[in-house]
Parts: sequence; C-alpha cells; structure tokens
Amino acid sequence: MIAEDLFDLAPVIPVVVLDDAGAAVPMARALVEGGLPVIEVTLRTPAALEAIERIAAEVPDAVVGAGTVAGAEDAERSAAAGARFLVSPGRTPRLQAAMVATGLPFLPGVATASEAMALLEDGITAMKFFPAEASGGAAFLKALAGPLPRIRFCPTGGVTPGNAADYLALGNVGCVGGSWLTPANVVRAGDWDRIRKLASEAAALRPA
Ligand code: 3PG
Repeated sequence: MIAEDLFDLAPVIPVVVLDDAGAAVPMARALVEGGLPVIEVTLRTPAALEAIERIAAEVPDAVVGAGTVAGAEDAERSAAAGARFLVSPGRTPRLQAAMVATGLPFLPGVATASEAMALLEDGITAMKFFPAEASGGAAFLKALAGPLPRIRFCPTGGVTPGNAADYLALGNVGCVGGSWLTPANVVRAGDWDRIRKLASEAAALRPA
C-alpha cells in the first residue's frame, strides 16, 4: 500500500484519542461497519499503542494507523504495534527518515506551499494539511491546486460534518480527517450504535 491508497478506502479518517485500550476493538468494529475502515489512533494517550495492537489483531477489515507521530521513536513503536500507516502533524528530516525506514505509507503534515514543495522534492505527493481550518481551510487548498497539481491532501484539524463536503469537492483532496466520529463521552459510554451512525453519515459524504 502507498499513501495515496488510503484516499481510495474512505472519504473520512476518524482521528481517535483513546483512554481505554479495551474500547479499541468495539469502536473499530463500529467504524468499519459504518463504512470507515481507515482509523487513525493518535499517540496522545498511554493506551494508544495497545489500542493499535488490538485493532490490528482483532479487526481484520480495519486499516489502523498511528497519528500524532512526532518523533523517530513514535514511528518505530507504531510500526512494531502493527500500524499500517503513519500520520504526523508536521515534518522534520529526522522524522521523515524514520517514517521511510518503517516501510509504511505515511502522511506528513504541511501548512504552507514551501513545506509541501520540500516533500515534493523527495517524491512525496500525499500529505496531511494541518491544522486545516486555522491554516486557510478549503480556500487555501483550492489555491494550491494550480501551482502544485501533483499533491493530494488529507485536511485535518477543524474539519466537521458541516465543512467536510467543501474539502471533499476539491480535486486535490483525497480524504479528510477528524475527531467528530468518536466523541470521548460516546466512546466512554460504549455507545457503538452512535459511532456506527456517525461513521455511516461520514461515509456517505463521498459515495463509493
Ligand atoms: C488532531 O490532530 O487532533 C486532528 O487534526 C483532529 O482535529 P479535530 O479535533 O479538529 O478534528
């Protein structure tokens, strides 16, 4: 799998912050059943790596990745846990080298034309646009399509059910990412029907 393949699997990548690894498998099943098989578990909680391990082992239809990959060690640990892709809020040369070394597809974060061009020089054409709304939103990406036509973005950060369609309508947007699919209180309550419904509404943003 290359990073661009992620874009073909689902229009929305749920960005998940999990406090309890025990919730990982039923949450992932609900997302997959709702039509969102690509799941980003952020490395922001002590439970994250175990959550990735459990989803990788027990939910074969999910494509689980690690998010908030901010250092070389994060990339290595995520790969060892079974992550199938990596997402970073930004990009440094060391981090990029570590992500390349895992052999996994990855989406490095950019927020300016120069950052995107630096990645293009290395042959990287799939990127996260972060923080999307604070960095100019859909209008910014639309403006980049002319000068940088080869790049496809996954905007994340401030993306909501209200603006996701505006991003997905752009030719240079492969998918969007967001945390609205898995609200902390809903996950804590184990309300998987609610997660399934949120996922199916998001999956319908770009009919298969
Ligand atoms: C993040 O890094 O938390 C993601 O960008 C999700 O942002 P959101 O909570 O605004 O969807």
